[in-house]
Amino acid sequence: MTSVSPRYTRIAGTGSHLPPRRLSNAQMVQLLAARGVETSDDWIVERTGIRARHFADDGVNASDLALIAAQQALASAGRTAAEIDLIIVATSTPDMVFPSTAAILQAKLGVAGCPAFDVQAVCSGFVYALTVADAMIRSGAATRALVIGAEVFSRILDFNDRTTCVLFGDGAGAVVLEGSDQPGILAADLHADGRHVGILCVPGTVSGGQVLGDPLLKMDGQAVFKLAVTVLESAARAVLEKAGRTEADIDWLIPHQANIRIMNGTARKLKLPTDKLVVTVDEHGNTSAASIPLALDHAVRNGSVKRGDTVMLEGVGGGFTWGAVLLDY
Ligand code: UT7
Repeated sequence: MTSVSPRYTRIAGTGSHLPPRRLSNAQMVQLLAARGVETSDDWIVERTGIRARHFADDGVNASDLALIAAQQALASAGRTAAEIDLIIVATSTPDMVFPSTAAILQAKLGVAGCPAFDVQAVCSGFVYALTVADAMIRSGAATRALVIGAEVFSRILDFNDRTTCVLFGDGAGAVVLEGSDQPGILAADLHADGRHVGILCVPGTVSGGQVLGDPLLKMDGQAVFKLAVTVLESAARAVLEKAGRTEADIDWLIPHQANIRIMNGTARKLKLPTDKLVVTVDEHGNTSAASIPLALDHAVRNGSVKRGDTVMLEGVGGGFTWGAVLLDY
């Protein structure tokens, strides 16, 4: 019997999880004040749009957050873990140096055998992972995939550096993907430019049983900001062209949730009204690879994103990496 590869990959279900410990800006101000570091709710809201973030408790890892998000996505797709034949986790805060968080998650899901691996593209990780899974499904290498963004960025923050520690949070978002003859993922556009490694990185490494270099996040915020506004527009235009669509076809823009000013700027350049922009950065902060699937699940569950809507997902971050995926939900 010959099997015919599906024309499209569609999202069959979504899920997400935020660890319960929520820190408001006021609580961050207090936490930092105890270290002699000054910040304010006004500064954080005005410069970023962030009002709160969630931090995982000690001992809770990316795979634990991923597990809950994955279980929700499976339930919403009406599938079980045993029906999944590909697991990809996008993360920059894995449980271990190795094996992959995806392999650890696979065991936590109580299944074995299917390929499971991590994708490391920092805040672009989810659009990278989605693109890989889409290609594997359309080629016939997989039939049903779990793609997850999961992060515990609180573990790599320097709480003496106010320019970064107020920005990030922990969480996970997941989708179940299936082959379909109905549109689904329409086009993807991915990029990296390693010349900008130093503007957003965790420069440390492990060697000889010791951490060498600094294991905490470093960011040149202004450099990242400038690059982000440029590449988010170019990736959006490129993916629309590949799909044969225009800005007017976009029902929802779900960009990486890092800064409301960057997100509003991207919507403006694409001539999209802000009510087409999905915003969760206010309550989640920047959850890196988890931010897009968290926002997608949020928008699906509150009834904003509906079946048939055209959705633009856009990631940007360390590497420097960026990319967009256009899909019919
Ligand atoms: O996830 C990957 C993608 N990441 C991003 O997209 C992040 C992109 N960058 C940004 O979102 C912004 O650049 C930041 C939010 C990081 C910073 O905003 P900004 O408007 O670029 O501020 P700035 O770096 O120019 O700093 C302005 C001032 C400085 O003080 P002086 O030199 O003007 O006296 C900073 O020291 O704000 C000060 N500042 C703070 N003040 C209070 C920086 N952080 C804080 C803080 N609280 N937490």
